[in-house]
Amino acid sequence: MAKSGNMRIRAEEIVARCQRLAAFTEEPGCTRRTFLSSPMRDCHREITRWLNAVGAEVAVDAAGNLRGYYPPAQPGAPRLILGSHLDTVPNAGAYDGILGVVLAVALLETLGGQRLSFGVEVIGFSEEEGVRFGTPFLGSRALVGRLDEELLNLQDANGISVRRAMQDFGLNPLEIPLAALKDDTLAYLEFHIEQGPVLESLNLPLGVVEAIAGQTRMELLFLGRANHAGTTPMHLRQDAIAAAAEWIIEVERTAQSEEGLVATVSRIEAKPGAANVIAREARLTLDLRHRSDNVRALCADILMRRAEEIAARRGLSLQRRVLLSQRAVALDMFLADQVEEAIRKTGCEPHRMVSGAGHDAMILAEKVPAAMIFLRSPGGISHDPSETVEIEDVAKALDCGLHLLEQLANSSELQKRMCRA
Ligand code: GLV
Ligand code: MN
Ligand code: MN
Repeated sequence: MAKSGNMRIRAEEIVARCQRLAAFTEEPGCTRRTFLSSPMRDCHREITRWLNAVGAEVAVDAAGNLRGYYPPAQPGAPRLILGSHLDTVPNAGAYDGILGVVLAVALLETLGGQRLSFGVEVIGFSEEEGVRFGTPFLGSRALVGRLDEELLNLQDANGISVRRAMQDFGLNPLEIPLAALKDDTLAYLEFHIEQGPVLESLNLPLGVVEAIAGQTRMELLFLGRANHAGTTPMHLRQDAIAAAAEWIIEVERTAQSEEGLVATVSRIEAKPGAANVIAREARLTLDLRHRSDNVRALCADILMRRAEEIAARRGLSLQRRVLLSQRAVALDMFLADQVEEAIRKTGCEPHRMVSGAGHDAMILAEKVPAAMIFLRSPGGISHDPSETVEIEDVAKALDCGLHLLEQLANSSELQKRMCRA
């Protein structure tokens, strides 16, 4: 396979591009690019330019995913998908998601015009983080036929539904079925920063993801009674914030006592929100993850029972809403072995690991064989502007990607799959 140019120079260009895309933001001074926001259009325009330059046809599907298709050597051959997401968390870094898309474009550029035995589709998913509508994976769910009515009716903080946001972006929700994975799809590969400290602690640049932990996201509402903060004795209060605080400590305690469980309450909104008024309501989010779906379900039950007990003891009522229950996913073992071999060819030791973060790969894995390659995250930091990558690691990832494409193009196992596609 033709490799043109120097990997390090290409890696520097990848990092520079990620930083350039980080400037497309809804909030001056930091990076925030949520689902179908106007900076997402700028991001699409920029990536489209790069994809067009390598001869890929580009379109935006009805769910707002950017899709570039690099044709195969022979018309009618199946396709391999490379991708990740283009949306960000608030006050984000420049690499979570974006790096996987930019790296995929760079892989095509590095081919120097050479066509492969399969087409390559590069996808920049529109929504993975769940920031705007509280529910993640809206982009990738469209590909597996799971962007349903219930999701289309979700509303953002301004009361705009997913359906309406699509129309405002110039998309037609009726065309969502056309975004579905094509029958000719062989596999999905995603490069992503690790977003944790494991690879750094092992002094390794690249990892092979074997499985992705399942996650539950919920919203809880403690409903008490607003009253005067100066005149209401402590034992006669129905204070929603105090109940929420007691429950948050329970969440932390439960996660600390269950091996491998991570649980986070990251948002609390209290009303009416005046210093001299006892809070009537406290609305919280819960994010709960474990590699075992049984443990996750059990812990979610325990935490809900504790919330009910706390609410009942304090004379409050409790409402709850499940925003996401995503099962843990095992990635494809044949592809994981291929990734491991490709990493070895770059001169690095591959490390097999489980991802605690959710990824588009866990959605696509429902329908097609999927694999992920992690790049070391310096300091283990992500979801923060200090998130970064080492240029050398990006160069290794690019090299690994080229080996992987070459291996897959020559793989008899994949040839068999191509015949079935
Ligand atoms: C995605 O970043 C997640 O929350 O796992
Ligand atoms: Mn993220
Ligand atoms: Mn991500």
